[in-house]
Amino acid sequence: SLQPVTLHVNGKRHRIEVDTRTTVLDALRENLGLKGSKKGCDHGQCGACTVLIEGRRTNACLSLAVMHDGDEITTIEGLGTPDKLHAMQASFLKHDGFQCGYCTSGQICSSVGMLAEVKMGMPSHVTPDLNAPGPLTDEEIRERMSGNLCRCSAYPNIVASIRQVAT
Ligand code: FES
Repeated sequence: SLQPVTLHVNGKRHRIEVDTRTTVLDALRENLGLKGSKKGCDHGQCGACTVLIEGRRTNACLSLAVMHDGDEITTIEGLGTPDKLHAMQASFLKHDGFQCGYCTSGQICSSVGMLAEVKMGMPSHVTPDLNAPGPLTDEEIRERMSGNLCRCSAYPNIVASIRQVAT
């Protein structure tokens, strides 16, 4: 059944009607026409759909739109503009942090959310001994970004892009 939901996307308020099973990803792409967030696996495994919801990186394919009524969502379209790129967007350009580009929106949104997590002192769960004080190591960047896959395997340049913004 259709249900009204209000999403604040990139600073704009949208009142839409969605099926209760509609994901945030489909609401963004189909209802709002924001195609920057990509559908890779649609199962939470690739990270191509990553957006920021209330500042936290989220797999939009795993989140139901009705559960985010009133929430602030930032997509790749809202992080920066062609005239005024977000620092992370500029860094991905500078370091060639992509090849085909399909995973890039997710990589950039995820890395922005990841650096916010680091700033808040959120530990890296998989390998806790990586959480040494000091600048982020490449190893830690790789682990914290392990939810974002790149089929072209542009990982060295992705890590270099993120490292520049992190330091
Ligand atoms: Fe959401 Fe792959 S499309 S994680």
